[in-house]
Amino acid sequence: MKYIDLKNIDINEENFNNQDLEFAGNIIRSGGLVLFPTETVYGLGANGLDASAVKKIYLAKGRSSDNPLILHVSDMDMLDKIATNISNIEHKLIDAFWPGPFTIILNRTLVVPDIVTAGLDTVGIRMPSNKIANKLISYAGVPIAAPSANVSGKPSGTNIDDIFSELSDKVDCIIDGGSSEVGLESTVVRVVDNIPTILRPGKITPEDIRRVIGCVKIDEHIFSKISSDEKVLSPGMKYRHYAPNSKCVLVYSENSSLLVNKILELSNKYSNPLILATTENISSYTNKNLLTINIGHKDNLDEIAQNIFTALRQVDKLNPDIVFIEGVKQEGLGLAIMNRLIRACEYNYISL
Ligand code: TXA
Ligand code: MG
Repeated sequence: MKYIDLKNIDINEENFNNQDLEFAGNIIRSGGLVLFPTETVYGLGANGLDASAVKKIYLAKGRSSDNPLILHVSDMDMLDKIATNISNIEHKLIDAFWPGPFTIILNRTLVVPDIVTAGLDTVGIRMPSNKIANKLISYAGVPIAAPSANVSGKPSGTNIDDIFSELSDKVDCIIDGGSSEVGLESTVVRVVDNIPTILRPGKITPEDIRRVIGCVKIDEHIFSKISSDEKVLSPGMKYRHYAPNSKCVLVYSENSSLLVNKILELSNKYSNPLILATTENISSYTNKNLLTINIGHKDNLDEIAQNIFTALRQVDKLNPDIVFIEGVKQEGLGLAIMNRLIRACEYNYISL
């Protein structure tokens, strides 16, 4: 396994040596697996046009074969090879949000192997803005199929330390680009009857989309439990996700003292509770000698998004008998944070 450390390196510098990224691109093209940074979360990448390379991703993650992968492109020529019949609205969305944390579901061409799309006639496509990701795709010369870098069911990886032990023996190369800028996976959108429909919320918010297209819909399954036989627009929504081993409960109130008091009251019933708390409230818990993890400032949703997956991963190391998580307002990026947290809590949600 080759480890490429680009943590503190500006790849736009004139004296940047591209050899390492070229090497990683060759690994992709020749059928290997590369763990690489994007602005959302780390990706576990393979040649998206090579069915046997893509199969390695499913095996490494333990991912169900009916859950399709996103193809990552570095330019519009690559897009045209894998997608067809792109509508005006779809073009507008692409122009507005690429490169960036935005995935669009399009009609696929026959170049895309069935294993990528889990047999669907559509394919999810994204052009990352992260410079390392973009260069890697260019060097590979093919779209890179990449799910979030984590074993299925675990929180997505947002830095190499969090996922090294989970994935290092399953990949041919690791590119360390430091911590992910956004910290949550991309917004996934499919245009249905001319209306952009959000299948997974992310950094690009409903408001951002409405500003560009004039309308937006949020798929009803973003916050609801889905039975295993239910047909959904995005198969990934069906699966247990982000969940630590301990039972987790999400609690939210707009009123901070109500929220804190509720969590204190509930914590009383347990011997070893853990609280994932905002910076503003944390002392209310530590004063009572309760175990806490700080998820960031209440009104800084960017900060909470960046911290949340690492926080969820720390939970398992502390082995509490219950976890209470302070929720945030379901607005803007808060929609994406709450979508991930509700899943981490397996729909145990108290709203006051
Ligand atoms: O930010 C991201 O999107 C990251 C980075 C690595 O780019 N990738 C990521 O991939 O989150 P993954 O595989 O963990 O999540 C992809 C989601 C899944 O929920 C999947 O079901 C959905 O996108 N998806 C992929 N192709 C689809 C399609 N053709 N139709 C509907 N949903 C699709
Ligand atoms: Mg994932």
